[in-house]
Amino acid sequence: MKSDNWYILGAGSMGCLWAASLCHKGEAPRLILRDSNYQQLKESHAPLKLTTAGQSFQYHVDVVSPETLNAPINRLIVCTKAQNALEAINSIKSHLTESGQILLLQNGMGSQQAINEAFPTQSVWAGSSTDGAYLAAPFEVCHAGQGETWIGPMTDNSVSVDRFNDLLSNFRLKVSPCDTIEQKLWEKLAINCCINGLTALFNCRNGELLDNGEKQAWLDLLMAETCSVLTALDIHTPSLKERVYGVCQATANNISSTCQDARQGRATELPFINGFLINKAENLSIPVNSHKQLMDQLRASGIN
Ligand code: PAF
Repeated sequence: MKSDNWYILGAGSMGCLWAASLCHKGEAPRLILRDSNYQQLKESHAPLKLTTAGQSFQYHVDVVSPETLNAPINRLIVCTKAQNALEAINSIKSHLTESGQILLLQNGMGSQQAINEAFPTQSVWAGSSTDGAYLAAPFEVCHAGQGETWIGPMTDNSVSVDRFNDLLSNFRLKVSPCDTIEQKLWEKLAINCCINGLTALFNCRNGELLDNGEKQAWLDLLMAETCSVLTALDIHTPSLKERVYGVCQATANNISSTCQDARQGRATELPFINGFLINKAENLSIPVNSHKQLMDQLRASGIN
């Protein structure tokens, strides 16, 4: 076992996509699964399947659980949902080396900052991705939309980008370094906090938000409030309205990740998306009533 093997926490669509992509490159990542999932997969001996652009690949990936981990972890990619990230890292904390690298691939914001604070000696990087992937079945990932992932350090005193070289070149995912990763995270959050919760509330596809009616009016209010918060934080993004309308049009047939979570009765990442924005707005005394109303109505509908 090489001491710099990548370990990946979480076997959802992103975890499987990154694990398969590292295998594709000839690396030997190890996937860390929760104990119940670990038992099932270990017994089934199932290979990891990747489908992309009409082609299918299979890889044999080493899976471990927090209980069966037996080696130090120098390099870790966290692919859990935002709400599970801190707890997941804590479950393997004793194996993380003091100067280890952690790459966080959560949606929204808040979880990255909490982990950065909880792991001061490790080098914590965050990523913001536009890759589209879903699990057709457990351990079977479909890379549906080739996107881009920007990665950058959460603190100035972080390790050099060279330590991430194997993710930046000769890799089937497009990964680029970014000096201002918090700005990138905000840009994505700004789009998601307008689209995702609304699609979950109306149980609709992204394109259906542009209905020239009730949904679009609400979307416009959410955008306006989001812009006020970004401006107060001095975060400059290209026209939010163009970007949000553009995403709704370009992904018109997609069911957003939040709408999928709501349909499956799973907890959503909205506390790290709209919830994060609302917290920031309250600290700045900026009214965000449409965002609050959206979160209230979602809660009343049993979507958390
Ligand atoms: O969360 C998602 O599903 C996506 O980020 C987006 C942009 C809403 C497209 O479906």
